[in-house]
Amino acid sequence: MSTSSGVDTDCQTLTRFVLDEQRRFPQATGDLTQLLNSILTAIKAISSAVRKAGIHSLYGIAGSINVTGDQVKKLDVLSNDLFVNMLRSSYTTCLLVSEENETVIEIETERRGKYIVCFDPLDGSSNIDCLVSIGSIFGIWRKTTTTPIDPSDALQPGNKLVAAGYALYGSATMVVLSTGNGVHSFMYDPAIGEFLLTEKNIKCKPRGKIYSLNEGYQKYWDKAVSEYIHSRKFPETGKPYGARYIGSMVADVHRTLVYGGIFMYPSTSEAPKGKLRLLYECNPMAFIIEQAGGLAYDDKQTRILDIEPKNIHERSPIFMGSKEDVQDILEFYKKHPK
Ligand code: AHG
Ligand code: MN
Ligand code: MN
Repeated sequence: MSTSSGVDTDCQTLTRFVLDEQRRFPQATGDLTQLLNSILTAIKAISSAVRKAGIHSLYGIAGSINVTGDQVKKLDVLSNDLFVNMLRSSYTTCLLVSEENETVIEIETERRGKYIVCFDPLDGSSNIDCLVSIGSIFGIWRKTTTTPIDPSDALQPGNKLVAAGYALYGSATMVVLSTGNGVHSFMYDPAIGEFLLTEKNIKCKPRGKIYSLNEGYQKYWDKAVSEYIHSRKFPETGKPYGARYIGSMVADVHRTLVYGGIFMYPSTSEAPKGKLRLLYECNPMAFIIEQAGGLAYDDKQTRILDIEPKNIHERSPIFMGSKEDVQDILEFYKKHPK
């Protein structure tokens, strides 16, 4: 509903959308909405830092190495602090797992709630300095046991996710979210500081025309990936696929969601489990892609969401995107099983 001044007086914000969705559950307490709001605050602050990072001398290396061995940039640290502080003070979480923290973060008793959140506060950090799109990823689980908090409570498969989503700091800031009832996108409107619904029930095309992986590692690929990529470049019929690779998972998967195609981070002879982390990269993104009608599998033909995690920072090879494109690569793994 837009007035003569052009202001939408009945705009659908993300919070309002989630509140409406939660009405489906008579037992809902509003905690999930409160939790999501705390994540949105972190995302708004990160977005603002990303936009003026240069001015505030946020670029550059902070001088430490994170638990998975990558160089930590200042924006990673800031983003992590924002996620941790906002979630901790939301009174809705009990355990947090962050890419930037070696161990789980237990929330103090007085502030505890029932949710467990795993997140990658800043994804694509190698793209910060050259102004290419980066993002944040989060997955929300419920504590399923009634026993005292234990780090193993965070080791739940993706099929138990309550909600998951990501923020993309691209040419605009967008949040893509699913609470298990389809995928919806919300564009950030800096004028009012709100995320406004832009698309409901996003669907990933059954087949795309783009493949996306780091082709520089071809030397280390297995037979299935080598043959699959060759088949996209030299198809027996039709045109070859296009290649796109940004190097920020959020941006590459978002493009896959919107345009279709396949995103892959396979295992290589150098990295036998690939690079991407199961709890806070693969699972939330797989949840979104599946909710949009796509698929996400590893190279043993296991659905990503069905993998039982053994440790919080474990990695998994991943193939995700348009249903038929993912089925194609799985056929190559049937020929060349792992
Ligand atoms: P992060 O910045 O959180 O460490 O993640 C970077 C990840 C992911 O975003 C991207 O898909 C991948 O690294 C790119 O890796 P390569 O440079 O090996 O292709
Ligand atoms: Mn990442
Ligand atoms: Mn990261």
